[in-house]
Amino acid sequence: MQGVAAIPTGVSELDRVLAGGLVPGSVTLLGGEPGIGKSTLVLQALASRAAAGSRVLLASAEESAHQVRRRADRLGDIPGELLVLPVTSVAAIEAAVDDTRPELVVVDSIQSVVAGDGVAARSAASGSVARVRECAELLVAMAKRTDVPTVLVGHVTKDGSLAGPRALEHLVDTVLSFEGDRHHALRLLRAVKHRFGPTGEIGLFQMGAAGLAPVDDPARLLLGDRRPGAPGGTVVAVLEGRRTLVAELQALVVRSTTQQPRRAAVGLDLGRLAMTLAVLQRHTDLPVRMVDVFTSVVGGIRAAEPAADLAVALAVSSAITGVPVPADLVAVGEVGLTGEVRQVADLPRRLDESARCGFTRAIVPRSAPPGPDGMHVVRVDSVGQALAHLDLVALVPSAGARGTCPGTLLA
Ligand code: TYD
Ligand code: MG
Repeated sequence: MQGVAAIPTGVSELDRVLAGGLVPGSVTLLGGEPGIGKSTLVLQALASRAAAGSRVLLASAEESAHQVRRRADRLGDIPGELLVLPVTSVAAIEAAVDDTRPELVVVDSIQSVVAGDGVAARSAASGSVARVRECAELLVAMAKRTDVPTVLVGHVTKDGSLAGPRALEHLVDTVLSFEGDRHHALRLLRAVKHRFGPTGEIGLFQMGAAGLAPVDDPARLLLGDRRPGAPGGTVVAVLEGRRTLVAELQALVVRSTTQQPRRAAVGLDLGRLAMTLAVLQRHTDLPVRMVDVFTSVVGGIRAAEPAADLAVALAVSSAITGVPVPADLVAVGEVGLTGEVRQVADLPRRLDESARCGFTRAIVPRSAPPGPDGMHVVRVDSVGQALAHLDLVALVPSAGARGTCPGTLLA
């Protein structure tokens, strides 16, 4: 199907991820946790096509036509060319597609449709993998037969088991994953699989009162409420596909009351956090073993890559000592088990974006290339050197001299 013109959905960030739009006869699976905004995204795409004069069909198996209309009211005028079909059977969807020959059909969601006339459905286990797969196979066959691009919405559960959708990935042409933290506005759309283009593009959206809007400058959202000068905060630049996100990573430490101190991570890899803490314990005087450590990446994004290690080390050290990391500093580097700070992928890109966001200092691995104009780059060999440079260890007394440290945990 290479070379067939894709139909732009009209939702710019979605088209960016799709490398142009939806290819005729293709099947796209849109997965994401409940409440993340899947129904909103597909409705906006449908409304945009309908506003351009194309007949499009929404097979709404979860929500009544009334509920869809209420959602649509928030998004503005819904053109008459958008047909909303509140059905739960694949047979009815096929009949409607044959009948109306839409330019695009969306099934929301694949977990809530059934193959036959809907009677067997109620007895079969709702959303069971076998049933979901059977329905998906029928809808894939429909897309190929009619050449109508078909989007299947699929719910993904919090623990990452895509109950159903994962089992569908090999059946479909494109798998999109809609991610983010429901409690934050920022949403990331990525192509996990894409038969018609590269998978590196990321779509960024902001959920607001009138639906999803594209985000041109994620830094404004991610750094907007930062409290510069507060101990425990460090800024890091992470890669998301071809985008660079500059975000704040925070650590909070409290004196532990248990034998086994707690370690918690939101948006970070817990295994990497444990490793970075072990490095701090082994290579500095910080009382890592005595404290519970809570870490989080602000804004609901993930910074699970090794390049965030150095920022984690600085944030935790800052939280323990009470000494803030300078507000104009960004930290990027992988931390090795011997305490060395190692190279990371695409450092120039990370520093360019950091400079654009107003950061004037960077702490990076020794081997780093020159930074962008106007950015002071500090190269370090080891975590210890990085902490010393920022006065995060100089204030940590060795045993017997605890009174000099400003951090309450060490006093
Ligand atoms: P929804 O698209 O229903 O999520 P999903 O289909 O993935 O379960 O929308 C999720 C949330 O977004 C819901 O809590 C309401 C909110 N929302 C807005 O904040 N603004 C809007 O304009 C719309 C339509 C929804
Ligand atoms: Mg929904």
